Amino acid sequence: MKIGIIVFSKTNNTFSVAERLKVALIEKGMDAEIERIVPENDDPGVKPPIEFTNKPDVSPYEMVIFASPVWAFSLAGVMKEYLEQVSSLQGKRVFSFVTKQLASKFTGGIKANRQIKSAVNAKNGIIEKSFIVSWKNKNREAEITNLISEILKAV
Ligand SMILES: Cc1cc2nc3c(=O)[nH]c(=O)nc-3n(C[C@H](O)[C@H](O)[C@H](O)COP(=O)(O)O)c2cc1C
Repeated sequence: MKIGIIVFSKTNNTFSVAERLKVALIEKGMDAEIERIVPENDDPGVKPPIEFTNKPDVSPYEMVIFASPVWAFSLAGVMKEYLEQVSSLQGKRVFSFVTKQLASKFTGGIKANRQIKSAVNAKNGIIEKSFIVSWKNKNREAEITNLISEILKAV
């Protein structure tokens, strides 16, 4: 199965999780690759419309995993805008994960995954599972391991 891990990451926390996931998927025999979403301007204050210097095409993938940081208790605006511009997700398996700094609940992870879900639904896709990794959580490693093992189980 051809799997695309489509990542926006400004300071590489999200990207580092994506890399571990990619390695695990490849070890399981999957054809997995990471594509980075690169905006022309990654300043969190930038207003839409956002232009992209790299805007990954999801059409080659049977399964897509969207990954993004939480910004200001919400999905990072760059990912929000990317998902508005992405092509149809109909018939694809779709997963998501977000990373954030704060360990406590209500710091944006649930909302960000809900925003990804709505955006994916708007492109005729369905999110099978979504995950949150809290960078300052003492259980961060367990959250990452769980995310990887749940996705491996699903493929
Ligand atoms: C502009 C901005 C806003 C942020 N807002 C939140 C927030 O509301 N809640 C939170 O837990 N972390 C917040 N963070 C922290 C990031 O979500 C966290 O460091 C994330 O892992 C960064 O991912 P990246 O390294 O892939 O860019 C914010 C970071 C930035 C730069």
